[in-house]
Amino acid sequence: MIFGPDRGELDDDAVAAAYPWPDAGPWVRAMMVTTLDGAPAGPDGLSGSISGDADRGVFDAVRRHADAVLVGAGTIRAEGYGAQTAKPADAAARAAQGQRPATVPAIVSPSLDLPWDSELFTGSDEVPIVLTVADPPADALARARAARADVRRAEGDDVPARWILDTLVAEGLRRVVCEGGPRLLESMTRAGLVDEADITVSPAFAGLAHVNATDGLDEIRTFDLVHVLTADGFLMGRYVRP
Ligand SMILES: NC(=O)c1ccc[n+]([C@@H]2O[C@H](COP(=O)([O-])OP(=O)(O)OC[C@H]3O[C@@H](n4cnc5c(N)ncnc54)[C@H](OP(=O)(O)O)[C@@H]3O)[C@@H](O)[C@H]2O)c1
Repeated sequence: MIFGPDRGELDDDAVAAAYPWPDAGPWVRAMMVTTLDGAPAGPDGLSGSISGDADRGVFDAVRRHADAVLVGAGTIRAEGYGAQTAKPADAAARAAQGQRPATVPAIVSPSLDLPWDSELFTGSDEVPIVLTVADPPADALARARAARADVRRAEGDDVPARWILDTLVAEGLRRVVCEGGPRLLESMTRAGLVDEADITVSPAFAGLAHVNATDGLDEIRTFDLVHVLTADGFLMGRYVRP
């Protein structure tokens, strides 16, 4: 840690402790990695190619005591998410805090065009929650209902950020890690629901030609810097909403 309350070398447990969750209330933590030129993925369209061991270490630490991992469908389709399973080392701490043994995958997808046979759906310990619109394509809905998924439909043609969070909190999932992508993160930010942004700056340029356009925000949203970790040339910043 080169800036923040606990400067010096940190082991894995100290890294996890540097990302505390509040005792009460929902808390949405956004996790993203960006290049020096602001790209969320490398030229291959994957965030893994701009990430590294240090970034992945923080990513894993932040998930350890989360309740839900919230992800947009574009990221699931691009990245091929794996199963979310319980980690024996964290079992006692999670049980003591009244948490489920494993994080619950939560996926936002109006189209329901998702890889239903992938490990994320078939192999996660908890049944994934899929958040969609009131009237998704009928064939896609039929496939979703046949899959291992808990499909929740919003009331209208969109999937409002507030409804997403309310749905998770109603399931007792109040510690939410939002792992993007940019479109989902933007809608959560627009609704004022991102409490914390854990952003890694990768020491690389990737170009922006392959980046999907989003709707954009009407105004900037600023955050306060809490700490900066560094390793291997990466900067891992923890920012919280003022
Ligand atoms: N740098 C990083 O840390 C990081 C993290 C995650 C992803 N990425 C990269 O980002 C790229 C994907 O970007 P993206 O912006 O397309 O990802 P995304 O936000 O994961 O996915 C967009 C899709 O998710 C659904 N969606 C998300 N938010 C929604 C909302 N508020 N309302 C309704 N539907 C919503 C829609 O699904 P349907 O299409 O199913 O209707 C939409 O097409 C990939 O290249 C990925 O590798 C980078």
